[in-house]
Amino acid sequence: MKAAIIYTSVTGNTATLAEIIHENMEKRHIATDLIPVDSFDPAALSNYDMVAIGTYSWDDGELPMEMEDVFEAFEEEDVQHITTGVFGTGDSFYSHFCGAVDLFRDMLYVQSNLAVTLKVELTPQDDDIMKCDKFCDRLTNQLVLV
Ligand SMILES: Cc1cc2nc3c(=O)[nH]c(=O)nc-3n(C[C@H](O)[C@H](O)[C@H](O)COP(=O)(O)O)c2cc1C
Repeated sequence: MKAAIIYTSVTGNTATLAEIIHENMEKRHIATDLIPVDSFDPAALSNYDMVAIGTYSWDDGELPMEMEDVFEAFEEEDVQHITTGVFGTGDSFYSHFCGAVDLFRDMLYVQSNLAVTLKVELTPQDDDIMKCDKFCDRLTNQLVLV
């Protein structure tokens, strides 16, 4: 079983969320690679059984530019076997809150075995930490069912 969290973060909010989710996976004894997207080779994607994507949103709910290659890899490669989740941070001041999470969700629903999504307002708070636990529950339960 090969698992990864692939994320991007400029001001640290999504990185914090990725670290919390990573700790939760390790607590479940699921060894998980925690990889900033700049260090991820999209050609390696199909080697994984479980991938959680973490992204902030930009420019009216758009994907950050650095996420485009991994987004396209999911669209173009045979990744139906991968159980996926997508999480992100955003700011509800903007009209399309966590729009990049929605873009990944819609694509991953078609291309992969999408298990769960999570949206967080800026910096994760205590109730978000509980949601991270649920996020990992959903992800790992789906993994067993596949
Ligand atoms: C120019 C700009 C545009 C943004 N656009 C959106 C947006 O459309 N939707 C949203 O939910 N958040 C938007 N945000 C907020 C960021 O997604 C949010 O601050 C996020 O937590 C940053 O993540 P990071 O700390 O991991 O870099 C925007 C922020 C900036 C600076």
